[in-house]
Amino acid sequence: MKHLLMTLVAFAVAGVTTLANAQELKGNVIEGEKKIAMCMGCHGILGFHTGFPEVYRVPMIAGQGPKYIVAALTAYKKGERKNPSMRAVAETLTEQDMADVAAYYGAQGVVPGATLPAKAKAPSPDVAALIAKVGCTSCHGENFSRPIDPSYPKIAGQHPDYLYFALMSYKTEGKPMIGRANPVMGGMAKQFSNDELHLLATYLGSLDSDLKQIQRPRLR
Ligand code: HEC
Ligand code: HEC
Repeated sequence: MKHLLMTLVAFAVAGVTTLANAQELKGNVIEGEKKIAMCMGCHGILGFHTGFPEVYRVPMIAGQGPKYIVAALTAYKKGERKNPSMRAVAETLTEQDMADVAAYYGAQGVVPGATLPAKAKAPSPDVAALIAKVGCTSCHGENFSRPIDPSYPKIAGQHPDYLYFALMSYKTEGKPMIGRANPVMGGMAKQFSNDELHLLATYLGSLDSDLKQIQRPRLR
């Protein structure tokens, strides 16, 4: 009887949390692992470059924050982030699929609360001035790895050629295949020349990272 009661209480609690999370689906790591076969074709190959519309390394997503992964996937699906491949991919995913794959990739990262790599590499004076101009770390956090909001990306150690392309995308308007409509980063990126964005991307890419690339598992 005690058992039954516990079970009923557990169900009641589960019911309440399901309602509370109606807006925000809970991702399941195990389910996510079953849904990443398609992703591995691009994100799971070391040094894999896109050939279209520009050439750069496909971003590392393992260890990225799950909320940011969902936000990015949603933006590709809605066309707010223009990228033909990622739009096609995102269109096949339901909201539950997105939550699951995000939980899977997010779980490949560091343990929550773990300390940062002891030494965050100090920027050159030129780069320090660019960072100070808009205060990048006020959002991207310590060492560009601890964003102040879980829906913001970790960017330290990401591929620099991808970071440069991403920063350029926030400045790009009116092109069919390239561009990101994010108003926050648009306002940031537009304050810099392309050369300055290149300097920033090179510095960010040289930092120690939470991000990883999981390679394609052997076919079972
Ligand atoms: C055909 C190759 C390809 C496939 C397949 C693919 N991706 Fe991507 N993905 C890319 C490219 C290229 C980008 C960078 C696009 C851009 O410039 O915005 C990207 C970007 C992303 C981003 C944004 C990363 C960031 O730092 O903002 C996420 C998240 C992502 N992909 C998740 C996935 C998931 C999850 C899957 C599988 C369901 C997947 N991708 C399948 C090529 C691919
Ligand atoms: C007010 C908060 C804020 C500030 C300040 C800010 N960012 Fe961002 N940044 C964001 C958000 C939010 C995103 C995600 C936007 C999206 O969904 O596309 C982002 C995205 C990015 C990305 C794309 C990452 C990826 O994986 O695609 C890069 C690179 C970046 N920021 C670099 C910078 C740099 C460099 C600075 C300083 C010059 C800066 N940010 C300042 C909030 C901020």
